[in-house]
Amino acid sequence: MNDAQTLAVEVKAIEQVTPLIKHFTLAAVDGGDLPAFSGGSHIIVVMRGASRVHRNPYSLLSSPRQLSHYEIGVRRMEESRGGSHFMHDAVQVGSSLEIAHPVNLFGLDKIARKHILIAGGVGITPFVAQLEDLHGGSVPYELHYSVRSPEHAAFLDTLRSREGDRVHMYYDSEGHSIDFEGLLSHQPLGTHVYVCGPAGLISRVTNTAKSCGWPNSHIHWEQFSAPPVGDAFEVFLARSRLTVHVPPDRSLMESIEAAGVEVPYLCRGGVCGFCQTRVLELDGELEHNDHFLSDADKAKGKSIMPCVSRAHGKRLVLDL
Ligand code: FES
Repeated sequence: MNDAQTLAVEVKAIEQVTPLIKHFTLAAVDGGDLPAFSGGSHIIVVMRGASRVHRNPYSLLSSPRQLSHYEIGVRRMEESRGGSHFMHDAVQVGSSLEIAHPVNLFGLDKIARKHILIAGGVGITPFVAQLEDLHGGSVPYELHYSVRSPEHAAFLDTLRSREGDRVHMYYDSEGHSIDFEGLLSHQPLGTHVYVCGPAGLISRVTNTAKSCGWPNSHIHWEQFSAPPVGDAFEVFLARSRLTVHVPPDRSLMESIEAAGVEVPYLCRGGVCGFCQTRVLELDGELEHNDHFLSDADKAKGKSIMPCVSRAHGKRLVLDL
């Protein structure tokens, strides 16, 4: 994926659905249908500001059966490098944006005997579309949705009216918490669990499922990492013969793109592995922030995922 493959869309509606989340409706500028997708898919939204370009992944929450528009939910991130603030503050109804074609890295298992969906906060967004796929089918499913307080429960009215008592709510403010062990220890064979939300929730679910004997293939999670800020450093791109400065508030991938060199991507969140790049020389240390490379591969220092990872030290040479 690169910017040559993006689609032009117009913002048709914006709704503030919680104190932190805005709901955007996007439609093709030419008025035609948008590409088909399945529940769990995300798009990359390209935001061209005055001084920099932001490209952020957002899950699609509209119905996969309705392709006249896409809907996304964007949480304003306190530690944002600019993308979520751009969506909240600069984007208006009528604004033009570019989006990449949908990609699904968090699909429902097609032969599962039951689905358990666990969401924390804005992690509800991929499940809204997945529930559309599940609704009316013969495979049982349930949603467990945890938020800090009732006013932060985005899309709850829609989910409740459609899904009824399949929706189980947990409010931190009221002392509710999910009984992970109780939930995951007595499920029928062939059940799959899916979790999306904060890192702590994902590790609680995945660790509990593993300790209850669930096979890895039945545990699904999605967490796009936001590239962290860090020290500035320089990278030499061997094939392009370019030295690129990476400032503290830009990712390695953004800095390389700003220098005019394309890096392939699907998620820009350290999950898909598409941007994996060979490290040719390193005098210093790599700061791996991805969820793709194994611990052994990270220790070898021969590859980096430039969408989320950085480097410290005197010299980094990449095969780009
Ligand atoms: S683009 Fe997916 S891991 Fe970097």
